[in-house]
Amino acid sequence: MFDTTTMIKIVGSLCGSLLVLLLGNFVAGSLYQVGGDGHDQAYVIDTGEEDAPVDEEPAEQEPTGDAVDFGALLASADAAAGEKLFKACKACHKVEDGKNGVGPHLYGVVNRSVGSVDGFKYSGSLVAVVETWDADALNAYLENPKEYAPGTKMTYKGMKDVEDRANLIAWLDSLDG
Ligand code: HEC
Repeated sequence: MFDTTTMIKIVGSLCGSLLVLLLGNFVAGSLYQVGGDGHDQAYVIDTGEEDAPVDEEPAEQEPTGDAVDFGALLASADAAAGEKLFKACKACHKVEDGKNGVGPHLYGVVNRSVGSVDGFKYSGSLVAVVETWDADALNAYLENPKEYAPGTKMTYKGMKDVEDRANLIAWLDSLDG
């Protein structure tokens, strides 16, 4: 049988290795901890809400509305620049007559009746606020679709720069001659 000294040695070495294990676990844990603050989420659930293409320029807030005479801006607008800006709409809109995408086709949209494209299922939120897409209505809608027409199906975040909007509307207007 073991004598006391042997027993103490055995118990002692057991405790010693337990302690080493605990320390090792603690150190490894703090080195390899995953999750928590500052770590990337493993995956993101795509709700489809943020699909709208983003404007390249950081939103520089322009004074809009009363201060700006949109008609004057439109008169001196640059349609060629507007054509480039249409890339923000391309994912959802075509400009060929009759060709609908996620959104209705935009051929002749300037001064077109709101919600009038055959075969396109509108939300009904647009006709609730406006009858005709004249330049001013387009200007307001494109600046902030959700604010102008609450409930609109158009999940586009808006074009902040009023000159950009004038250029784009001038280009859209030029399409049907
Ligand atoms: C993410 C897709 C998406 C993007 C991007 C988008 N639209 Fe739309 N647009 C829609 C949808 C969907 C509708 C129909 C809205 C409704 O019924 O409420 C719509 C409606 C419209 C209408 C009303 C047309 C009508 O027949 O009454 C205009 C004008 C319009 N969009 C212009 C634009 C312009 C210009 C851009 C780019 C600056 C743009 N949209 C970007 C999806 C989009």
